[in-house]
Amino acid sequence: MPYYRRVGDVPAKRHLRVRRPDNSGYLFEELMGEGGFSSDSSLLYHRHSPSALAAAEAVSDPAAITFEADVPLVPRHLRTGKLPTGGDTVLGRTRLLGNEDVLVSWVAADTAGELYRNAIGDELVYVHEGGALLESSFGAMDVTGGDYVVIPAGTTHRWTPNSGGLRALVIEATGHVTFPPRYLSDTGQFKEGAPFSERDLRAPHEPLVLEDEEVGVLVRTRSGLTRHRQRHHPFDVVGWDGCLYPFALSIHDFEPLVGAIHQPPPVHQTFAGPNLVVCSFVPRPYDFHPEAVKVPYHHANVDSDEVIFYAGGDFMSRADSGVGPGSISVHPAGFVHGPQPGSVERAADAKRTEELAVMLDTFRPLGLSAAARQVADDDYPWTWARGRP
Ligand SMILES: [Fe+2]
Repeated sequence: MPYYRRVGDVPAKRHLRVRRPDNSGYLFEELMGEGGFSSDSSLLYHRHSPSALAAAEAVSDPAAITFEADVPLVPRHLRTGKLPTGGDTVLGRTRLLGNEDVLVSWVAADTAGELYRNAIGDELVYVHEGGALLESSFGAMDVTGGDYVVIPAGTTHRWTPNSGGLRALVIEATGHVTFPPRYLSDTGQFKEGAPFSERDLRAPHEPLVLEDEEVGVLVRTRSGLTRHRQRHHPFDVVGWDGCLYPFALSIHDFEPLVGAIHQPPPVHQTFAGPNLVVCSFVPRPYDFHPEAVKVPYHHANVDSDEVIFYAGGDFMSRADSGVGPGSISVHPAGFVHGPQPGSVERAADAKRTEELAVMLDTFRPLGLSAAARQVADDDYPWTWARGRP
């Protein structure tokens, strides 16, 4: 999806026989491709067959929950600090919001996970605090606070949190997460004027080849979880190339666009996906017209539910609402939202904002999980009216 990359030993020509380095037979070439092999793909060269299945078992999915319609319709403030902690980065997720297109979870992981492959769609993980080693068939990379990590569907990987753990917002798409097409040239290069470039993307830079052993791989499909027992460890790729691989982009490398008056959310867009967009709000100078209203005007995003994860800094527009770092606000379609009372006046003389936030807009209504309702601030819906009716 980002751009062509080549790691490790890759033969000069594709789809020809390639001998193993020790001359003990041939490597196993795997074409991993999207869109029926008519879109982005990579070619991976395994030491062993990636198809050697030894066993398969159904696994009960702790995250398999139902979402209730958001009725009666009110804006929500979810407090992630009140959610369960512990477990690994996949099975330890707490589902909060979901619809046919996307699942939104929070995870505070402290345990290394097993090998995992999501066959439904790409996963976009925003690392809030802590960090982890992310290993995959493509190699390993360290991720840390502020990183967006995109893991393409079908990538076999595992998360090992650092000693301080990993706290992250997890967005599971039902298709592929891409960059906004308007940022890209006809041939896929980031254009001048895009808020980040190829240099800001990090990806595995050397192969990861572990000792061969039989190992389990947790596979998520629309039907649930299955644990495949694979005869050979999937981290046996001596080289790969292509445009499909996991990568990280730090929100701190997002270069904000500012104007004389308030700029609309699309200037903050970072990713696009099936019926969703993701935007980054980062520290920046405020609008510089002498009479500029520096916090967002009231707005009705009529086609979207709007989810914002508040990662750091101050949030001028949400003053006195209880929202702070670690909060998630959910402003659904059908509700006109804007700055909390007093925000416009308070921001009048401010020169810049230090806010750091991730926004997810979905194009279909989101349901709430029981866990989300449990950590919702009951007073938040009434903060614009300065208190409960
Ligand atoms: Fe909004």
